[in-house]
Amino acid sequence: MSLLQVENISHTYRSSNRLWRSGSLTTVLSHVSFEIERGQCLGLLGSSGAGKSTLGKVILGLEQPRQGRIIFQGHDLYYADTRAARQLRRDLQVVFQDCYSSVNPRMSAEQIIAEPLNNYEKLTRDEGKRRVGELLEAVGLKADDMRKYPHAFSGGQLQRINIARAIALKPKLIVLDEAVSSLDMVNQTRILSLLSELKATFGLSYLFITHDIKAAHVISDSLAVMDKGQIVEHCRDKSGLADSAHPAVRELFASVLPEHPRDRGLGRESAIKQ
Ligand SMILES: Nc1ncnc2c1ncn2[C@@H]1O[C@H](COP(=O)(O)OP(=O)(O)O)[C@@H](O)[C@H]1O
Ligand SMILES: [Mg+2]
Repeated sequence: MSLLQVENISHTYRSSNRLWRSGSLTTVLSHVSFEIERGQCLGLLGSSGAGKSTLGKVILGLEQPRQGRIIFQGHDLYYADTRAARQLRRDLQVVFQDCYSSVNPRMSAEQIIAEPLNNYEKLTRDEGKRRVGELLEAVGLKADDMRKYPHAFSGGQLQRINIARAIALKPKLIVLDEAVSSLDMVNQTRILSLLSELKATFGLSYLFITHDIKAAHVISDSLAVMDKGQIVEHCRDKSGLADSAHPAVRELFASVLPEHPRDRGLGRESAIKQ
């Protein structure tokens, strides 16, 4: 059985309209289905407004869909009993794009990372400190950094803190919603290799949501492309995506700038196909 089964998910938002009491319904997700196997990363690609973040929220249990089921570790996420739901939430974590607004500026790195541990495990202060120190080291920071506050970290370092918090409870699946998109190229590369390392070490699975086909290609095992709320392409072997003729896929490829200015405007796909 797959770790995550997304079954025929459809969702609508009601637009607020002051003139008419009830706004019109907009379909944002339409019959979305796919699976993620244990230890695998699915890259979910699509341009802005395609419905990726809404799908991420549905999978995280934050936005109940109008239709369909999310089966996580064999349980229907929205109809699990309280005990199972608590365990499912523990096994399902998230890292968002905006590393600054994801943390409380008044909490130290230690408090930020210890928060999920305190919610789920009864640790003594010393045990908690030791775990936080280990987590900081696992994400390439120093144990001593636990005393610092968010303003003392760079964007890349703060995203490492968010990742440390996400892996603190040894989850099974992490939803990474544009998690490297706001970082500069050097930090993007570093965080992507950190994520790949953690995936191998802890047997993690990822849903890697992004508009960036290059980043998705680096970290993912398989790739899916969303357009207007639908999955329009799904390649279990990620290299197959280059052969897709779907306009939404071509658009993603066309948005990639080759590394060298000399090559811009020429065979753009070569930059990712390699
Ligand atoms: N809470 C909301 N209420 C109404 N419309 C929303 C809400 N969240 C997102 N949308 C709309 O749903 C569509 C998909 O948005 P989103 O899931 O954020 O796409 P993506 O992450 O691919 O950019 C967009 O048209 C967006 O404006
Ligand atoms: Mg989004």
